[in-house]
Amino acid sequence: MSAYGLVMGEQPSGGQVALVSGASRGIGLGIARALTRAGHRVALVARPSEALQRAATELGERALAVSADVADPAQVTKAVAEVEAALGPVAMLVHSAGSADVVGPLWEADPDAWWNEVAVHLRGAMLLTHACLPSMLARRGGRLVLLYGNLGDRDQPWCSAYAAGKAGLLRLAGQLHAELDGTDVRVFTLHPGLVWTPMTAALARDSEKRRWLPNFGQRPREDYGTTEPAGEMIVRIASGEADPLSGLLLGAWDDLSELRGQADQLRAEQRRTLRVM
Ligand SMILES: NC(=O)c1ccc[n+]([C@@H]2O[C@H](COP(=O)([O-])OP(=O)(O)OC[C@H]3O[C@@H](n4cnc5c(N)ncnc54)[C@H](OP(=O)(O)O)[C@@H]3O)[C@@H](O)[C@H]2O)c1
Repeated sequence: MSAYGLVMGEQPSGGQVALVSGASRGIGLGIARALTRAGHRVALVARPSEALQRAATELGERALAVSADVADPAQVTKAVAEVEAALGPVAMLVHSAGSADVVGPLWEADPDAWWNEVAVHLRGAMLLTHACLPSMLARRGGRLVLLYGNLGDRDQPWCSAYAAGKAGLLRLAGQLHAELDGTDVRVFTLHPGLVWTPMTAALARDSEKRRWLPNFGQRPREDYGTTEPAGEMIVRIASGEADPLSGLLLGAWDDLSELRGQADQLRAEQRRTLRVM
């Protein structure tokens, strides 16, 4: 791996191959946009939809739409094979696919819907990682980024499926960091900040969701940021700037140069209390 984060065998002019799940809209699309602008080739993964095709068309020749339900093992295996055949092995995996549809008391939730929501976050991360890691290890380089959300570390009611999924992502990243010790593969969780997307718009506007989460509806739009900080941070992670911080939960607004000097201390702190805003 070079100091600039290029994977062995890749030419700088070609950029890296990135797979971004949840890239048909919202933060995943913003991240895919930032990566293509930075010269990387990006596979946009989501379930089949016109929005996914439109997103790939908007991003141009560096983008490829690949449809898959990230919670389905066969679909993920097929999607990653399709990406590898078209673009080459994946050097950067960003798991942004997510869902916040199951809102309300756990005991009133439909058990299948609840479990499916956990699965989009956690099973999706496991399946994508499982499919992409072997070639990263074989090529001695790669980066995995799992999109995190606040509820993974706090007891705020009415989103138990989302919270369980996000908490699982944190543990998955920690375990992977330990298992990947001695390799050139790095793993991060990333908080994108509060961003106005179809997900948060639904939380703010849907009357049934607002019943349980009134704060979303009351927040002024100015409280919401854009997808750009997360996109910029992903481009920096792809460059190798964050490599010494592998295993940590990063925020899209973080000052990487400041954090790099404190990596060990931050890891110890994160083991005790999560370092989130
Ligand atoms: N927005 C925020 O303020 C915020 C804050 C913290 C964390 N996050 C996290 O950031 C990530 C992106 O959130 P967002 O706000 O951009 O959400 P969003 O606008 O609802 O976008 C979610 C994306 O995930 C895809 N997706 C959902 N289920 C899928 C499945 N089973 N298989 C494949 N793709 C699936 C969706 O595409 P299809 O439905 O078309 O498949 C869409 O592309 C999520 O993990 C979320 O938890 C968001």
